Amino acid sequence: MLKAGLIGIGFMGRGHLDIYERFEKENYPVKLTAICDVDGEKFKGKFLPGNIDVGNSKYDFSKYRLYTDVDEMLEKEELDFVDIALPTYLHAEVAVKALNKGLHVLCEKPMALTSADCARMIEAARRNGKKLMIAQCLRFWPEYEVLKEYVDSGRFGKVTGAYFFRGGSTPRWSYQNWLLDEKRSGGCILDQHIHDVDMINWLFGKPRYVSTIAANVIPGSGFDILSTNYIYPDGKVVNAQDDWTLNGSYGFQMLYRVNFEKGNIIYEQGVLKVNPYDGEGFTPEISKESGYYREIVYFTQALMNNTPVEVAAPESTMATIEIAEAEVESAKNGGRITPVK
Ligand SMILES: NC(=O)c1ccc[n+]([C@@H]2O[C@H](COP(=O)([O-])OP(=O)(O)OC[C@H]3O[C@@H](n4cnc5c(N)ncnc54)[C@H](O)[C@@H]3O)[C@@H](O)[C@H]2O)c1
Repeated sequence: MLKAGLIGIGFMGRGHLDIYERFEKENYPVKLTAICDVDGEKFKGKFLPGNIDVGNSKYDFSKYRLYTDVDEMLEKEELDFVDIALPTYLHAEVAVKALNKGLHVLCEKPMALTSADCARMIEAARRNGKKLMIAQCLRFWPEYEVLKEYVDSGRFGKVTGAYFFRGGSTPRWSYQNWLLDEKRSGGCILDQHIHDVDMINWLFGKPRYVSTIAANVIPGSGFDILSTNYIYPDGKVVNAQDDWTLNGSYGFQMLYRVNFEKGNIIYEQGVLKVNPYDGEGFTPEISKESGYYREIVYFTQALMNNTPVEVAAPESTMATIEIAEAEVESAKNGGRITPVK
């Protein structure tokens, strides 16, 4: 039985909490024993709702040991791993602390605010011989996993073009409004668009250059609307867009359209469609589980079986941050074609 500690039970942390509660019902050998959140009101069930449904049930916190201080929890608890669902500006600091205490670490995306911080996290994991995985959930999302299979297998030949979009209403629920402070969240590029950056990196590797046009709408939040072209030596046309100021009744959407020499794969309005150029289009059979559930199962299986966290290796999720850094630089320079480190 692995013992877990959850750090941060804001919007995303509660999504993770639901998964640990499900593990308990399923007799899965992972037990959440301790929870830490600096805001003790959350242990009384006082939460703000977010913009996507990650679970918001009522909790019985009496079965966990509760902390409002991370150091105290790390000092007093005997854990195998921690699950960090803290604001991004705390990821590197808390991950390194936990790794140095000899714990494995699952940490929410984005890995950190800078690639230098990502490197510190990787170094701490290496030095302590512990596993580190960033919860880049799209790598575990069935609709995106299918796409990866088509890209890697070459079943439809080479990719000729790819478009990714995500966007929705402005996230206004966060602790001390950290999400809308560029210095603490990295703005829409590092926080929300990072999912598509990570997908592009996972599917196609690092582009040679990026060019990003972006705009600020909300004072102090960095870039809120953006469009990036990813430039690869083989000339495929790759673009991703994000907008977290789509308010009103729009809700939230994520979608992609990827074209290959011999077919295309489209995921729009929650519907996945594979369209071969020599036959009928179809919707493939995929897992019904969410990426959030599957990523935690994957990480804990890697701990139980002592296997590497290949699907979301920390070096790869750090490369995602390097691409995003180039996008921010490009955006600050009016879309200048900018090399990726
Ligand atoms: N994978 C996804 O789809 C997804 C979606 C939303 C958020 N996230 C990520 O999850 C992380 C958390 O985001 P969120 O939306 O849940 O934010 P949030 O503000 O709702 O939650 C953060 C929680 O951390 C707590 N906290 C703040 N400082 C702390 C400290 N020093 N010690 C202990 N607790 C502290 C806050 O009280 C709050 O409960 C971010 O990295 C975000 O990018 C991922």
